[in-house]
Amino acid sequence: AATQTIYDIAGGEATIHALVDHFYTRVAEDPLLKPLFPDDFTEIRQKQKAFLTQFFGGPALYAKQYGAPMMRYRHLRFPITRAHAQAWLHCMSGAMDDIGLQGELRRVMFERLAMTAAHMVNTPEDGE
Ligand code: HEM
Repeated sequence: AATQTIYDIAGGEATIHALVDHFYTRVAEDPLLKPLFPDDFTEIRQKQKAFLTQFFGGPALYAKQYGAPMMRYRHLRFPITRAHAQAWLHCMSGAMDDIGLQGELRRVMFERLAMTAAHMVNTPEDGE
């Protein structure tokens, strides 16, 4: 049998979509993150659903629709500090709470996202 991916174990499309929807509801309420995003989150929600599907081992939806991820490169036009990465991860942790994601699966998913968030940091904090 084929190896089960994190995407499969987590519950596939329904879980990724719910996670992303709760995540951006929180981002839209976060004072540090909100100013970086457009008022309408429709497009970013779609992109993130496609990206996280592929990131967690599901179908390569992002690559198919938008090309090579190059996520750090795609974030360079935004000044992202460690504080932004922490706020992003805080919203993600809240979204995981919202959908009842727990245990080892949550820990593994969060760890991978934390590594990627750290990789997106491209701007020192004030005074650093
Ligand atoms: C796009 C912020 C981390 C995945 C964006 C956008 C912003 C942003 C402002 C563009 C929204 C727009 O289209 O106007 C941040 C900040 C982060 C962060 C502040 C803090 C570290 C991450 C991480 C991931 C991610 C960890 C993935 C695990 C994406 C994706 C897009 C995106 C898939 C859409 C790219 C595209 O096709 O245009 N992000 N991001 N981001 N971000 Fe992040």
